[in-house]
Amino acid sequence: MSVGSVSHVEAARRRTFAIISHPDAGKTTLTEKFLLYAGAVAEAGAVRARGNQRRARSDWMTMEQERGISITSTVLQFTYRDHVVNLLDTPGHRDFSEDTYRVLQAADAAIMVLDVARGVEAQTLKLFEVCRARALPVLTFLNKYDRPGREPLELLDEIAEKIGLTPTPVTWPVGIAGDFRGVVDRRSGELVRFARTAHGARAAEEERVPPGRAAEEEGAAWTRATEELALLDAVGAGLDRETFLAGETSPLFVGSALTNFGVRHLLDAVIDLAPAPAERVDAAGAARALEAPFSGFVFKIQANMNPAHRDHIAFVRVCSGRFERGMTLTHGPSGRPFSTKYAASLFGAERDTIDVAYPGDVVGLVNASELRIGDTLFDGEAVVFPPIPTFAPELFATARPLDTRRHKQFRRGLDQLEREGVVQVLTDPDGDPTPILAAVGQMQFEVFAHRLAREFGAEVELAPTAHVLARRTDEATAGELRRSGSRVRVVARRDRSLLALFESPYTIGRLERDHPEWCLEPLPAETQAS
Ligand code: G4P
Repeated sequence: MSVGSVSHVEAARRRTFAIISHPDAGKTTLTEKFLLYAGAVAEAGAVRARGNQRRARSDWMTMEQERGISITSTVLQFTYRDHVVNLLDTPGHRDFSEDTYRVLQAADAAIMVLDVARGVEAQTLKLFEVCRARALPVLTFLNKYDRPGREPLELLDEIAEKIGLTPTPVTWPVGIAGDFRGVVDRRSGELVRFARTAHGARAAEEERVPPGRAAEEEGAAWTRATEELALLDAVGAGLDRETFLAGETSPLFVGSALTNFGVRHLLDAVIDLAPAPAERVDAAGAARALEAPFSGFVFKIQANMNPAHRDHIAFVRVCSGRFERGMTLTHGPSGRPFSTKYAASLFGAERDTIDVAYPGDVVGLVNASELRIGDTLFDGEAVVFPPIPTFAPELFATARPLDTRRHKQFRRGLDQLEREGVVQVLTDPDGDPTPILAAVGQMQFEVFAHRLAREFGAEVELAPTAHVLARRTDEATAGELRRSGSRVRVVARRDRSLLALFESPYTIGRLERDHPEWCLEPLPAETQAS
């Protein structure tokens, strides 16, 4: 077989997806259970870090541990049913929706996990909207059915209304939340009954019960489930792969990650329903064939994952061809050769050297300090993948080192954290040299300050500014704005594009009305944070 067709076959057996959820909905638990069902760990619980029972191994930053939230994203790879599954971790907090957005650029599908007692939480709508903006196929998992929760039919309505996705249940609960007997698999009509194992550490035993016997044994719970299913049939909420792949409907599964009920159905759906990596379209709109020579793009950069090593890792999603460690690629933006001698796959804080990778896989390039988010790397014929847009920032703060003697460390940290996309850094080309940080969520500032102090030894003073909105502008308008005396600040991004910062949307409205010829472009609608 040629290298090209190997890439094609290997791509077909890959599934690359991310889990999106509100913090505490059960993403970490579900991730562990996937590893358990795939045989990657012998017992659930094993992935939790020693001495810290609470968090899974993929959470490594001290701040994450202190806060009990997952801020940084890592990648887990495991095999299941002869497929290679790449699970990209995303932060659960909406303040990091921009990071989630970048990770989703590298995913082919997402699983949305909802807590059955809470439904769609307002705080996380933004994360789900990001999925929809990408038209990613989304599978839904109604989690925590082992304890009291809301009516599943009511939750279906809520998903449709708030997220704009039509859920199409594949499994349906028998028994109410808190008295969970099993699920009806709509594809066979059978009841699948689960048995608990101690602490959910091992796979739940499953018994498949034909409908007749299920009716006898489960009585009212079965009757109710079949009535609800008849209702779903009547409204046409059946599984439809085409609309799922188009990001319009979402196959829905019910279960409990804690007790492992329904976990296997969901993981099977990743293999059976989620798409394999497809040809990626480049910036010019042409598709790069899977069997073309290697190509990929950087979707995440992370430094100092291991403070002892002071390293710098660029995560590259493979789009075409075969990656072999040691190959020399071309770095798209600079046209320079790029050596891949140091490539790694990551499992939380642990690292294995990766030798080969195929479309859908993620390669971690160590000490790749010249790479930036969105950069394309390729072998053979040149390709440029579309840039990863940044969100329109909503929060702004000036940043100064508390101790002016640490200015050098401060600059170094500022530069590094900007590269990683922790915050955007804006500077005034003509005025006050104090950098202005821009963010989508307040916690980005907190992470910035924490990491600057911990990793670069520079305590920082952040002072919020009164700005609430940014518009793209040009030199001519910038000059007019400065002369106009309006309370508008013109600043530059690293790529030298200019932004005008406003303290109120009314000012924009007024200026647009009075000076329709001025350039005050909204940042791309797709990425306009809501
Ligand atoms: P996250 O990554 O989305 O933030 O959630 P995580 O998996 O950490 O789960 C949050 C809490 O919800 C954990 O409880 C976890 O055990 C619990 N949980 C997850 N799935 C289920 C489920 O299916 N049923 C029930 N009843 N609980 C579930 P905790 O008490 O905060 O932590 P722990 O002490 O159990 O680790």
